[in-house]
Amino acid sequence: MGARHLVTLTLNVNGEMRRVTSDPDTPLVYVLRDEFKLKGTKLGCGLEQCGACAVLVEGAPVLSCVSPVSAFEGKSITTIEGIDANDTGSRVQAAFVTYSAAQCGYCTAGLVVAATALLDDNPSPNRVDIAQALTPHLCRCGSHPRVFRAVKAAAKS
Ligand code: FES
Ligand code: FES
Repeated sequence: MGARHLVTLTLNVNGEMRRVTSDPDTPLVYVLRDEFKLKGTKLGCGLEQCGACAVLVEGAPVLSCVSPVSAFEGKSITTIEGIDANDTGSRVQAAFVTYSAAQCGYCTAGLVVAATALLDDNPSPNRVDIAQALTPHLCRCGSHPRVFRAVKAAAKS
Protein backbone atom coordinates (compact mmCIF):
# COMPACT_ATOMS: atom_id res chain seq x y z
CA MET A 1 0.00 0.00 0.00
CA GLY A 2 1.42 3.44 -0.99
CA ALA A 3 2.02 6.27 1.47
CA ARG A 4 -0.85 8.70 1.95
CA HIS A 5 -0.40 11.95 0.12
CA LEU A 6 -1.24 14.84 2.47
CA VAL A 7 -1.69 18.47 1.53
CA THR A 8 -2.48 21.59 3.52
CA LEU A 9 -5.69 23.28 2.43
CA THR A 10 -7.37 26.49 3.53
CA LEU A 11 -11.14 26.42 3.70
CA ASN A 12 -13.61 29.22 4.36
CA VAL A 13 -16.03 27.68 6.83
CA ASN A 14 -18.75 29.78 8.43
CA GLY A 15 -16.83 32.93 7.53
CA GLU A 16 -13.54 31.77 9.08
CA MET A 17 -10.45 30.74 7.17
CA ARG A 18 -9.39 27.34 8.50
CA ARG A 19 -6.37 25.27 7.59
CA VAL A 20 -6.26 21.53 7.51
CA THR A 21 -3.68 18.95 6.52
CA SER A 22 -5.50 16.12 4.84
CA ASP A 23 -5.54 13.64 2.05
CA PRO A 24 -7.05 15.82 -0.72
CA ASP A 25 -9.45 13.00 -1.62
CA THR A 26 -11.04 12.87 1.83
CA PRO A 27 -14.74 13.71 1.52
CA LEU A 28 -15.55 17.14 2.97
CA VAL A 29 -17.87 15.79 5.68
CA TYR A 30 -14.98 14.01 7.44
CA VAL A 31 -12.91 17.19 7.55
CA LEU A 32 -15.85 19.19 8.91
CA ARG A 33 -16.66 16.66 11.60
CA ASP A 34 -13.30 15.15 12.53
CA GLU A 35 -10.83 18.00 11.96
CA PHE A 36 -12.99 21.08 12.58
CA LYS A 37 -15.27 19.38 15.16
CA LEU A 38 -18.38 20.71 13.42
CA LYS A 39 -20.51 17.71 14.33
CA GLY A 40 -23.83 19.24 13.25
CA THR A 41 -23.32 17.99 9.71
CA LYS A 42 -24.26 14.32 9.80
CA LEU A 43 -22.89 11.36 7.90
CA GLY A 44 -25.69 9.02 6.88
CA CYS A 45 -25.37 6.89 3.76
CA GLY A 46 -22.03 8.23 2.53
CA LEU A 47 -23.36 7.74 -1.00
CA GLU A 48 -25.16 11.03 -1.78
CA GLN A 49 -28.48 9.27 -1.21
CA CYS A 50 -29.93 10.61 2.06
CA GLY A 51 -29.20 14.35 2.39
CA ALA A 52 -27.93 14.23 5.98
CA CYS A 53 -24.54 15.69 5.05
CA ALA A 54 -25.77 18.79 3.18
CA VAL A 55 -23.92 22.07 3.64
CA LEU A 56 -24.16 25.33 1.74
CA VAL A 57 -21.39 26.02 -0.74
CA GLU A 58 -21.59 29.50 -2.23
CA GLY A 59 -25.21 29.50 -1.01
CA ALA A 60 -26.26 26.29 -2.76
CA PRO A 61 -26.91 22.96 -1.00
CA VAL A 62 -24.15 20.43 -1.59
CA LEU A 63 -23.85 16.89 -0.28
CA SER A 64 -20.50 16.65 1.46
CA CYS A 65 -20.10 12.88 1.83
CA VAL A 66 -18.46 12.07 -1.50
CA SER A 67 -16.85 15.19 -3.01
CA PRO A 68 -13.21 15.58 -1.99
CA VAL A 69 -12.23 18.35 0.38
CA SER A 70 -9.78 19.70 -2.20
CA ALA A 71 -12.73 20.68 -4.42
CA PHE A 72 -13.86 23.21 -1.81
CA GLU A 73 -10.75 25.36 -1.50
CA GLY A 74 -11.58 29.02 -2.12
CA LYS A 75 -15.33 28.43 -1.78
CA SER A 76 -17.53 29.69 1.00
CA ILE A 77 -18.90 26.79 3.06
CA THR A 78 -21.71 27.20 5.59
CA THR A 79 -22.58 24.40 7.97
CA ILE A 80 -25.55 24.21 10.32
CA GLU A 81 -23.36 25.81 13.01
CA GLY A 82 -23.09 28.98 10.92
CA ILE A 83 -26.49 29.04 9.26
CA ASP A 84 -28.05 31.54 11.67
CA ALA A 85 -25.60 34.22 10.49
CA ASN A 86 -27.95 34.36 7.52
CA ASP A 87 -31.41 35.91 8.21
CA THR A 88 -33.12 33.22 6.20
CA GLY A 89 -31.27 30.45 8.02
CA SER A 90 -32.20 31.91 11.35
CA ARG A 91 -35.88 32.16 10.32
CA VAL A 92 -35.86 28.57 9.07
CA GLN A 93 -34.34 27.32 12.32
CA ALA A 94 -36.97 29.19 14.35
CA ALA A 95 -39.76 27.72 12.22
CA PHE A 96 -38.37 24.18 12.70
CA VAL A 97 -38.56 24.75 16.46
CA THR A 98 -42.06 26.22 16.31
CA TYR A 99 -43.38 23.33 14.20
CA SER A 100 -41.40 20.63 16.06
CA ALA A 101 -40.02 19.63 12.69
CA ALA A 102 -37.57 17.06 14.04
CA GLN A 103 -37.76 13.81 15.94
CA CYS A 104 -34.38 12.11 16.30
CA GLY A 105 -32.81 15.07 14.49
CA TYR A 106 -30.43 13.09 12.29
CA CYS A 107 -31.79 14.56 9.08
CA THR A 108 -32.48 18.02 10.48
CA ALA A 109 -29.26 19.87 9.67
CA GLY A 110 -29.50 18.81 6.04
CA LEU A 111 -33.13 19.88 5.85
CA VAL A 112 -32.44 23.29 7.42
CA VAL A 113 -29.61 23.78 4.93
CA ALA A 114 -31.87 22.80 2.00
CA ALA A 115 -34.72 25.03 3.17
CA THR A 116 -32.38 27.99 3.67
CA ALA A 117 -30.98 27.63 0.17
CA LEU A 118 -34.50 27.35 -1.24
CA LEU A 119 -35.83 30.47 0.49
CA ASP A 120 -32.74 32.51 -0.30
CA ASP A 121 -33.26 31.66 -3.93
CA ASN A 122 -37.07 31.78 -3.97
CA PRO A 123 -38.71 33.62 -1.05
CA SER A 124 -42.23 32.50 -2.07
CA PRO A 125 -41.95 28.84 -3.04
CA ASN A 126 -45.05 26.86 -3.94
CA ARG A 127 -45.71 23.28 -2.78
CA VAL A 128 -43.84 21.80 -5.71
CA ASP A 129 -40.81 24.02 -5.14
CA ILE A 130 -40.68 22.97 -1.47
CA ALA A 131 -41.19 19.29 -2.29
CA GLN A 132 -38.40 19.41 -4.88
CA ALA A 133 -35.99 21.07 -2.46
CA LEU A 134 -36.76 18.50 0.25
CA THR A 135 -36.76 15.42 -1.99
CA PRO A 136 -33.04 14.59 -1.61
CA HIS A 137 -33.52 14.45 2.18
CA LEU A 138 -34.74 11.24 3.76
CA CYS A 139 -36.31 11.25 7.21
CA ARG A 140 -36.84 7.83 8.72
CA CYS A 141 -38.83 9.37 11.59
CA GLY A 142 -41.54 10.65 9.27
CA SER A 143 -41.06 14.35 10.09
CA HIS A 144 -41.53 15.54 6.53
CA PRO A 145 -45.11 16.89 6.98
CA ARG A 146 -43.93 19.08 9.88
CA VAL A 147 -40.81 20.08 7.97
CA PHE A 148 -43.03 21.09 5.08
CA ARG A 149 -45.18 23.27 7.35
CA ALA A 150 -42.08 24.84 8.90
CA VAL A 151 -40.65 25.75 5.51
CA LYS A 152 -44.00 27.24 4.43
CA ALA A 153 -44.14 29.29 7.63
CA ALA A 154 -40.55 30.48 7.24
CA ALA A 155 -41.38 31.56 3.71
CA LYS A 156 -44.30 33.68 4.93
CA SER A 157 -42.65 35.21 7.97
S1 FES B 1 -24.46 11.06 3.99
FE1 FES B 1 -24.33 12.32 2.26
S2 FES B 1 -26.17 11.99 1.22
FE2 FES B 1 -26.21 10.55 2.85
S1 FES C 1 -36.07 13.34 12.47
FE1 FES C 1 -35.15 11.36 12.58
S2 FES C 1 -34.43 11.00 10.58
FE2 FES C 1 -35.55 12.83 10.41
